[in-house]
Amino acid sequence: MLTIDRISSSYAQVKVLSDISLKVEEGEVLGLLGRNGAGKSTLLKSIMGLVQIDSGTIMLDDITLSDQHAHEIPKCGIGYIPQGRRLFPELMVEENLKMGLFARNNSEEVLDWALSLFPVLKSRLKQKSGTLSGGEQQMLATARALCLQPRYILMDEPSEGLMPKLIETIFDIVEKLKSDKVGVLLVEQKIEGTLRISDRIVFLENGILKEESTPQQLSENPEPLSMYVGVKSHTN
Ligand SMILES: Nc1ncnc2c1ncn2[C@@H]1O[C@H](COP(=O)(O)OP(=O)(O)O)[C@@H](O)[C@H]1O
Ligand SMILES: [Mg+2]
Repeated sequence: MLTIDRISSSYAQVKVLSDISLKVEEGEVLGLLGRNGAGKSTLLKSIMGLVQIDSGTIMLDDITLSDQHAHEIPKCGIGYIPQGRRLFPELMVEENLKMGLFARNNSEEVLDWALSLFPVLKSRLKQKSGTLSGGEQQMLATARALCLQPRYILMDEPSEGLMPKLIETIFDIVEKLKSDKVGVLLVEQKIEGTLRISDRIVFLENGILKEESTPQQLSENPEPLSMYVGVKSHTN
């Protein structure tokens, strides 16, 4: 279980997250929704140790992640796909993937498995990552995180800027990870797809967790969607 217990984070004394608690179980998809600036990316960065937390704890089973350096956290089995992909543009596709592999001493078999999910990358292993299309870069960022064989994966708007067909591919991968017992914390703007694949949904507003719900409850009463995300229906 990934357990976030009462964490607060700030940038230069400006508080961005207040007292956030949530849990992600293995094989569970938790959708995290909220408007721009709500603090969704900051929450994922706090889990990855990329933003220092002011208080609270983050645990992976009995390992205290919040005591670890940022570079140790992927080695514990937490994969992260940052918003905007953040690849190493000068490195080849293959080199980017191997950084994921080496962080956990995984074998080439894991690389083959990740590539089997994204066959288009296979023909581009020697290409510089910065020259890939936006969709290909997103696939690479996802494949790189999968090369860790993570137990939990944090995805920050993975569908951003992708064509509908690729968005479906990304959602299919999330479902596949779930069936492999990986826990997924998914930040998304694509509400319909998120509701389809998530087990639970939490809403963040101004750095505060406002509400927890299920896709089923939200289909009966979509009010939190209009209140915290600003959509009238969930057909986007
Ligand atoms: N590096 C930073 N320095 C200062 N403020 C930041 C930084 N990153 C984000 N913020 C602020 O923190 C708040 C939450 O941002 P963010 O976590 O990116 O929100 P979201 O991902 O929900 O859009 C915003 O008000 C944003 O301006
Ligand atoms: Mg964000």
